[in-house]
Amino acid sequence: MGLDFKSFFDILSEVLKGIFFSNMQKLAIIGCGIMGGAILESLIREKVFVPSQITTIDTDEKKLKELNKKLGVKTSENAAEAVNKADVILLAVKPQNLAEVCQNWKTKKLVISILAGTRIADLKKLTGSQKIARAMPNTPAKIGAGISGWFASKNVSKTEKILVRKILASFGEEAELRSEKMLDAITAISGSGPAYFFAFAEALEKSAQKLGLGKLAPIFVRQTFLGAAKLAEAEMISFSKLRKNVTSKGGTTEAALKIFEKKKLEKIVETATEAAKKRSEKLSN
Ligand SMILES: NC(=O)c1ccc[n+]([C@@H]2O[C@H](COP(=O)([O-])OP(=O)(O)OC[C@H]3O[C@@H](n4cnc5c(N)ncnc54)[C@H](OP(=O)(O)O)[C@@H]3O)[C@@H](O)[C@H]2O)c1
Repeated sequence: MGLDFKSFFDILSEVLKGIFFSNMQKLAIIGCGIMGGAILESLIREKVFVPSQITTIDTDEKKLKELNKKLGVKTSENAAEAVNKADVILLAVKPQNLAEVCQNWKTKKLVISILAGTRIADLKKLTGSQKIARAMPNTPAKIGAGISGWFASKNVSKTEKILVRKILASFGEEAELRSEKMLDAITAISGSGPAYFFAFAEALEKSAQKLGLGKLAPIFVRQTFLGAAKLAEAEMISFSKLRKNVTSKGGTTEAALKIFEKKKLEKIVETATEAAKKRSEKLSN
């Protein structure tokens, strides 16, 4: 079944609008800490926006001066003024600072939020906008290797969704979710996920030291993680198959994995991620 001419034209026009949209838009980034700063750098590096299109807002005057000097972006300590001049607003403050941030302004423009646990309904109330895209990125965004799940309220247009995708794709992979609720699971898996891997790396490093590797311990653990991640990416087979490929019958790996099984590693991970999801749900209420 082919597309009729009108549908084809509509889709093409949305895609073209999406491609050129960001070239005309002005973006205000409120909160330029770890995540806001990382997103800002990615947006410029990937040429989604040029520095003159971006205004950064933060309470830290010194940070703003540095961003202006380093990246050439505009800066402001007055959120209301910056929101008024912008076409799109990106919120990257801590959830507990949001009410204070939105105190002096309301908008009808597209608002993108990366705040953990702050629901679209609350973002609508606080910002006045009916066009909210809520995303959950993770810290590898700092090096352009993040992954973000996102969900947009129904008033966000197709063209605006293309811009949301472009912004999120500037610092890694992105996927639109079927429901806002899925963001709690995304938070528990990829949002908190890097910390799970670091916790495991810490444990492996301590074990390596106990086994006598001393200063070599962090070097060997880091490269093992990096190598395993790159192998998973290169081979694109299931994690289960990747694990089996390292495990020969009666060998050393099997001896260790048997302990993981006996101590119920899978159950530990399941219980931990459920706890993270529940915490995310609780923070949203
Ligand atoms: N870090 C992560 O792994 C991660 C992952 C996914 C989502 N998130 C979400 O990303 C958001 C930001 O996290 P983050 O780790 O980047 O936090 P952060 O480093 O503390 O950054 C927040 C920034 O907002 C500034 N700020 C505070 N009050 C403000 C106000 N009234 N107006 C303007 N700026 C203000 C802070 O300045 P001061 O330092 O002076 O207070 C700080 O520079 C959070 O909502 C978090 O849930 C974080």
